[in-house]
Amino acid sequence: MNDIDVLLQEHRRFEPDDAFRAQANISAAEYSEAMADPERFWADEAAKLEWMSTWERVLEWQPPRAKWFTGGKINVSVNCVDRHIRSARRNKAALVFEGEPGDTRTLTYWDLYVQVNKFANVLRSLGVRKGDRVAIYLPLIPEAVISMLACARIGAIHSVVFGGFSPESLSDRINDSACKVLVTADGGYRRGSVVPLKRNADKALEGTPSIEHVVVVQRRPGAPGDEAGADMRDGRDKWWHRLMRHAPQWCEPEEMDAEDPLFILYTSGTTGKPKGIVHTTAGYLVGAMTSTHIVFDLKEDDVFWCTADVGWVTGHTYLTYGPMANGATCVMYEGAPDWPEKDRFWDLCEKYGVTILYTAPTAIRAFMKWGDQWPAKHDLSRLRLLGSVGEPINPEAWMWYREHIGGNRCPIVDTWWQTETGSIAISPLPGITATTPGSATNPMPGFTVALLDAQGKEIEVGGGLLAIMKPWPSMLRTIWGDDQRYVDTYFSKWPNRPDVYFPGDGAKRDEDGYFWILGRVDDVLNVAGHRIGTMEVESALVEHPAVAEAAVVGRAHDLKGQALAAFVTLREGYAESPALRDELRDFVAQKIGAIARPDDVLFSADLPKTRSGKIMRRLLRDIAEGRALGDTTTLADPNVVNSLKETYEAQET
Ligand code: PRX
Repeated sequence: MNDIDVLLQEHRRFEPDDAFRAQANISAAEYSEAMADPERFWADEAAKLEWMSTWERVLEWQPPRAKWFTGGKINVSVNCVDRHIRSARRNKAALVFEGEPGDTRTLTYWDLYVQVNKFANVLRSLGVRKGDRVAIYLPLIPEAVISMLACARIGAIHSVVFGGFSPESLSDRINDSACKVLVTADGGYRRGSVVPLKRNADKALEGTPSIEHVVVVQRRPGAPGDEAGADMRDGRDKWWHRLMRHAPQWCEPEEMDAEDPLFILYTSGTTGKPKGIVHTTAGYLVGAMTSTHIVFDLKEDDVFWCTADVGWVTGHTYLTYGPMANGATCVMYEGAPDWPEKDRFWDLCEKYGVTILYTAPTAIRAFMKWGDQWPAKHDLSRLRLLGSVGEPINPEAWMWYREHIGGNRCPIVDTWWQTETGSIAISPLPGITATTPGSATNPMPGFTVALLDAQGKEIEVGGGLLAIMKPWPSMLRTIWGDDQRYVDTYFSKWPNRPDVYFPGDGAKRDEDGYFWILGRVDDVLNVAGHRIGTMEVESALVEHPAVAEAAVVGRAHDLKGQALAAFVTLREGYAESPALRDELRDFVAQKIGAIARPDDVLFSADLPKTRSGKIMRRLLRDIAEGRALGDTTTLADPNVVNSLKETYEAQET
């Protein structure tokens, strides 16, 4: 039985209970209304925000260009912070932070307001103006959220780079969008050791001519400039706390056009170069606010914990903009889930009374493996809703999550979306939808999602390609500096339907219309919920002097969902060895970041190619997954693949 059959035999259903249904933030009738008139729904949602001047048109759609709320003027930081300090939320906790070593900090909305205003003034004093780009390379600490909101306040476009990325990945991203300022820290904590962010940044900064200033948060105790590598360069580098000390507490918010860019976030695609996904101001904020409210059923006294790092889109939308636009209390935890013990998450849930937990299947599978005893040690009775994101969740992990974390009581929302969609596009709504393990169920209100075949014909029941048929407010607007790539990647799958968005995922639809996401159909992998382009890893490998050619494919992995398998041909004069294998794995980790380190490296004298010279990755995937080889008749030399399969299998045993 293949995966699809297994999924479709999943018939367990969990109806929302009556009490939950009665208090839910969206009803079935409201959902139907939204689906009947999405534009009206979005306009009603947008009206909940505070505008500097209201919009003239809800949507201007000239495929593939969407403009939402045109003519409207708005500032995101005003909506995320200022609005709340004028209400009873003034002294409500906005961020409840815990560092990995156990240090804690709570920022109320008032505190956040002060910090955001001050840092916005700091950025202005460093010459940052509306439209300038600011790179943020920080651990998961409150300064990350403060920096993002401060950029939003003055109309600067932030580009957050995940702290696990290498210096080279950082400098590529800084250069692609010519960032003027970099915000980093002297370190961050991960599994008990210090990630030397400033030292990495210094390496990156050797080749980033656009950077004029570097602001450094002191995360480590002790004297500034110690062995974490925070050697402050005169004129360029400045300590965050020194700049903040005298910064004024009020910063006039910039009046932003609804369609002005809010941020750029890089994500992997099918080429070696990551794409700078551009999100704009008003539409993105509406998508973030609305989805947080209805998917997570957010209430005034909830304690919401989205475990994602701000380096990924989930940390943008559901740790920062969505919850803050709703005035929610968010937990933020810097470190690893198994530090110092494997119950750190459950300890945090208990300690802070978390009511809504949003995490990734890869984490859930790890918790399952670590054993039921870890959550069992803690009182998780305050939890009332659980979420999952980033990759397909297997029914077994879903059931474990429900039983051991949710006490068989909490609804689970399996949320499908992407960096490009900006906010959740397919998900159960906890007061309406009967959930079923492994299915993301139905489109969100205001989203028109379908399954199409290769010709663009709609599939009612069965397998096909996921498609979004109409624009939505939080959709990406372009790829930074490469608009053609935007058109080619997202709006060219069905030449007869240039108005249809192609996310790159395959899915199935069952008799009830539920969507079951199967994963990427392109050369993009999903490793531990993070997107990695096989081409990116291949480009890194061939930069190593020993490598002549490389092909990278994904194979199924128990915990990570997918793992990377690299097939490598060496140059003349280099011999394969276990040491070289390790060296290549480390080389990729250094080039891109540890998340891209291949699990397997297989040396091969040749790679299976078609007669026209194209590497047949399909066959490499068969080998990596231990399957029988598919059709090999188009190969230039069929022997190559057979011997490769033998070597791979020999290596595994
Ligand atoms: O393949 C889908 C998978 O993650 C991809 C998007 O990755 P990224 O832009 O990094 O954003 C991840 C967090 C939103 C999608 O194309 N994916 C995301 N959520 C799910 C999922 N696959 C199955 N089920 C999900 N709930």
